[in-house]
Amino acid sequence: HSLLEHNTFGIRAQADWFVSFHGLEDLSLLARDEYFQECRCLTIGEGSNLLFLANFHGVILHSEIQTIDRTSEDEGHVDFLVGSGVRWNDFVSLASKEGLGGIENLALIPGEVGAAAIQNIGAYGMEICERIVAVHTFHRRTGEQRIFSKDECAYAYRHSIFKEPEYADYIVTHVHLRLDKKPTLRLDYADLRERITSQYKAPTPDDVRREVISIRESKLPNPKVVGNAGSFFMNPVVDASVFETLQRSYPNMPHYPLADGRVKVPAGWLIDTCGLKGYRMGHAGVYEKQALVLINADGEATGQDIARLAEHIQSEVMQRFSIAIEPEVRYIV
Ligand code: EPU
Repeated sequence: HSLLEHNTFGIRAQADWFVSFHGLEDLSLLARDEYFQECRCLTIGEGSNLLFLANFHGVILHSEIQTIDRTSEDEGHVDFLVGSGVRWNDFVSLASKEGLGGIENLALIPGEVGAAAIQNIGAYGMEICERIVAVHTFHRRTGEQRIFSKDECAYAYRHSIFKEPEYADYIVTHVHLRLDKKPTLRLDYADLRERITSQYKAPTPDDVRREVISIRESKLPNPKVVGNAGSFFMNPVVDASVFETLQRSYPNMPHYPLADGRVKVPAGWLIDTCGLKGYRMGHAGVYEKQALVLINADGEATGQDIARLAEHIQSEVMQRFSIAIEPEVRYIV
């Protein structure tokens, strides 16, 4: 089965099997299937954060759970149980258009709801975990249905418990989200704040959503046109002493102080400062408008081509700054 349509890098990998599930009944059948139990298995969403380094020998599972249910409501909030196969951006549009707040800064992030909750997607000073009440799962071996409270999910920057190997068999079926009826807009990000304050008197979540879309469209390549997986690396966090030394050489270095005294440094700036923006290595390249985004430049790159370029970037950044940058994108071997 071709995976070309199932990874936004546009890598021409193959999988032995590709299985879509529409609900718990489908998953129960799979859990009782001896062949399936023996296979290597990987659940994917839209494949917007994956890099296939080889053909996948095993079963790729994909959620087609597309339901969006309003489960409860009080004066301040509306709760939704959203199927893991719903496209994240569709849900953001639906909620923001209703005036509900809390996820509008996460507009246009590619991918589906299940993966969004696993990866703890974030942008413009907001993370999905702030809105998560619980994550509903199905264990692919035991058939157990388990609801993980937000605390149990152990959320951190681009991380949750579901990324840990011991939890890989829990398949996310639904995500329970809580949105605000009286939203407080999150405009910490300067570019967004300027756009909003200059144009709107009483901005709504939907106004913010539209501006976020416009910022993203100006900076990030559309994966339907140029294969990519958004930010390729995570932004590294360094100790205050390391940061101070760096700042002496690079006084204009953008940075975000963290509550624990450490400092987050934008990997895009590090790569850009190494002179690698727009760099090309065979079929793979660094996007010319955002150095944190690696691209399948001519549509012919293999996963190995992208990984080779990533390694080169890591070593250049290490040489110049002595900072290790780690992929955000998940390598599948
Ligand atoms: N910068 C450069 N050169 C570049 C790219 C960035 O100098 O080529 C500088 C920018 O000028 C800015 C700083 O680096 O001062 C940060 O850049 P930007 O605001 O574009 O954000 P980012 O750190 O590169 C992160 C997320 C994005 C998210 C944006 C906006 C990560 C790994 N990435 O990117 O998330 O959309 O912030 O909040 O945390 C993703 O995860 O796939 C993703 C796109």
